[in-house]
Amino acid sequence: MSRNSHEKTLAALGVTQAEQVAPLFAHLLSQANADLNAANSAETFEKFRVHWFGRKAGVVTLVGDNWLKPAVRELKPAVGQELNKFKAQLEARMEARRAAIESGAEQAVSAKDRVELSLPGVLRPIGSRHLIRQVFQEIEDIFVSIGFSVVEGPEIETPYYNFEALNIPEFHPVRDDMDTFYVEAANESGSQTPPGSLLLRTHTSPVQIRTMERQKPPVRVIVPGKVYRRDNPDATHSFMFHQIEGLAVDTDITFCDFTGTIEYFVKQYFGPSVKTRFRPSYFPFTEPSVEFDVSCIFCGGSGAAANGTTCGKCKGSEWIELFGAGMVDPAVYGFVNYDAKKLSGFAFGMGMDRLAMLKYGIDDIQAFFQNDVRFLKQFP
Ligand code: DAH
Repeated sequence: MSRNSHEKTLAALGVTQAEQVAPLFAHLLSQANADLNAANSAETFEKFRVHWFGRKAGVVTLVGDNWLKPAVRELKPAVGQELNKFKAQLEARMEARRAAIESGAEQAVSAKDRVELSLPGVLRPIGSRHLIRQVFQEIEDIFVSIGFSVVEGPEIETPYYNFEALNIPEFHPVRDDMDTFYVEAANESGSQTPPGSLLLRTHTSPVQIRTMERQKPPVRVIVPGKVYRRDNPDATHSFMFHQIEGLAVDTDITFCDFTGTIEYFVKQYFGPSVKTRFRPSYFPFTEPSVEFDVSCIFCGGSGAAANGTTCGKCKGSEWIELFGAGMVDPAVYGFVNYDAKKLSGFAFGMGMDRLAMLKYGIDDIQAFFQNDVRFLKQFP
């Protein structure tokens, strides 16, 4: 029987008896099976589907049009039944074939893209914390262990917090020591802030004020953070550097508590053999104000280098200047509605970069900010 028997009517094929119908469909099914077995990809499968099941000109449609519709009454029931059987059988086989092709295709893809697990991996270097961050952590740990907590504040400040509330009125000469970056920004309504109304904080001291505004005494906080001054960069200056501020306020804090706390910190940080001393100094927000020194950590406080010459670090003075501090000036309490008659406290402000340089023997502050991996790697 020819391949295109479905294009002819039963009459044209010479089918006149009901018994002749089943063999006709059996032949058609064997053709379809052969085609289906040859379909081994999504593409050839689709061709198969269109050829046999295409709605307009598929074989199944044409069998309906050419065999069933024009069939004589005696043949019609047999043709109808056989056609339904044929369709059901072919559809079932087709589904099985489709599943086989799809899973086979997936296997083919994964074989191509399969990861070769026995190859050595790509090693990506893992970074470490920057030395500044590590030293912040060291100092925070020391103060947290004696009851301080860590707070932070904004780097863009107002002159009120950076100066006025710290008892530094406009035109006070100490403002000259802190060459200040003023900034303009868009305020909430979208317009520019007036010139001089915002600045990059020149120290972490404004967070003293912000903390006392927010909480009632007792206060024991340290404030790590970045500060900014219009300094030209050299081995000891940078327009951005780091400070740690400290503030303790309570009803019974004495000058002894103050110096004891500082001495404890310095010994924890540099080691038990260092000595501390303080000298009178001046800050508008502390009274009295002091400058803390540590015995030179390079020459052991002797003033002499190992070869007998003068120690280059302390220049023979035996002491190294560390940071400024003092008892909180009562005027400051007035700005935050603290009762200056009942309260007392101390404050300090340490240059973080300097503390890190002294302890780790770094002689150029710029090394912290250049991000040279050869430098950073020395502090894993
Ligand atoms: N804010 C000062 C500065 O940056 C440092 C300082 C001195 C902070 C004395 C203090 C303090 O809290 O009591 O130069």
